[in-house]
Amino acid sequence: MIGLPFKYGKVIDSNFFINRDNELQYLKTITLSKINITLISPRRWGKSSLIHRLSEVVKKENKKVVFCFIDLFNSRTETEFYEYFATQILKASYSKWEERIEKTKQFFQQLIPQFNFGADPTTQFSVSFDWDSVEKNPNEILDLPEKIAKSKKIQLVICLDEFQNIAHFNDPLGFQKKARSIWQLHQHCSYILYGSKRNMMTELFEKKSMPFYKFGEVMLLKKIENNHWTKFIQKQFRKTKKTISKKNASTIANLVDNHPYFVQQFANAVWIKTQKECTESIINEALKDLLLQYELFFIRETQSLSNLQINLLKAIALDEKVLSGKKTIKKYHLNSSSSVSRSKDALVQKEIIDVFENKIEFLDPLLKIWIKTVYLNKPL
Ligand SMILES: Nc1ncnc2c1ncn2[C@@H]1O[C@H](COP(=O)(O)OP(=O)(O)OP(=O)(O)O)[C@@H](O)[C@H]1O
Ligand SMILES: [Mg+2]
Repeated sequence: MIGLPFKYGKVIDSNFFINRDNELQYLKTITLSKINITLISPRRWGKSSLIHRLSEVVKKENKKVVFCFIDLFNSRTETEFYEYFATQILKASYSKWEERIEKTKQFFQQLIPQFNFGADPTTQFSVSFDWDSVEKNPNEILDLPEKIAKSKKIQLVICLDEFQNIAHFNDPLGFQKKARSIWQLHQHCSYILYGSKRNMMTELFEKKSMPFYKFGEVMLLKKIENNHWTKFIQKQFRKTKKTISKKNASTIANLVDNHPYFVQQFANAVWIKTQKECTESIINEALKDLLLQYELFFIRETQSLSNLQINLLKAIALDEKVLSGKKTIKKYHLNSSSSVSRSKDALVQKEIIDVFENKIEFLDPLLKIWIKTVYLNKPL
């Protein structure tokens, strides 16, 4: 095996991707039925990787289904979005740049696209428009995927990542109304929408008054269960001529709450420290190192909180079950149940915790361990 056996960061390829079989099966069925999907989970649980994996799985079996990835990370304005949207749709649909130009002209009546090329025109290709006319006529761009899919007799699956970034547009609501009204008529395309800000995504798709309400199925992504992590960790150690017991592999995942990103990161730290055989003490040392590495960040993060918020965070870190119960309020000086709920909302806003499927999660399981063991000096 070349390179490290664990990978964490953004989208991962199939070598590091585990499980999610049921999710993939379900997503495949829904996608091939041209039903739209919104995928929601707290940060870094594997949304982007899952949709990339889905595209690989579908591509292998069905050449007539074409995935197009549009990451709104860099789209700060609506016009930027439209240009990027058109560019990505054209790139995904036509492999030759000459064809992109020729076809595009057919599909636009009101707008005049301009083409920009780099040294390699196949990859370095983009479309731009006169901004004034885009503002008046965005529908032609929003409708582009349907026109292309129809003319090429394919199905386009448009994957919009970091979708919550539309909040930066001048008129987010106006944009949503336009996009929804056009996309819902599409017969040859389907849309997969996801993003890293869980609470904003929920607001966009689960609130009745919002334009994208009931745009498609909403899928709440779960974490990956411990037994899958255990097998994966053992396998990656074995592949690199190191060993780890089932118990120790399971401990690695358990310590970071089976959180996909953090299991890979922690397993990587343990793997690096392991010469031949992983022991419990190596795991503990690797954990200490990671906590130390992030300590400044954790200090800064906790310093920005009010006393009430810190107190609540302590209660959550120590797994108190009934946060607004009288006993907990007294023990952690939380004032009242309404201040518990206010602090909880603030911690969600600050992206320190998330309340997902009625369970409170630390977005960063290492912060939870740090609060418990370093800040509160309790055993793990
Ligand atoms: N199916 C999986 N198998 C193994 N590791 C995974 C899997 N899914 C996610 N991970 C781990 O989690 C990390 C984050 O995944 P990804 O970026 O796909 O999550 P995300 O939910 O899109 O994150 P964000 O909320 O930041 O957009 C990956 O780099 C990888 O380490
Ligand atoms: Mg993502």
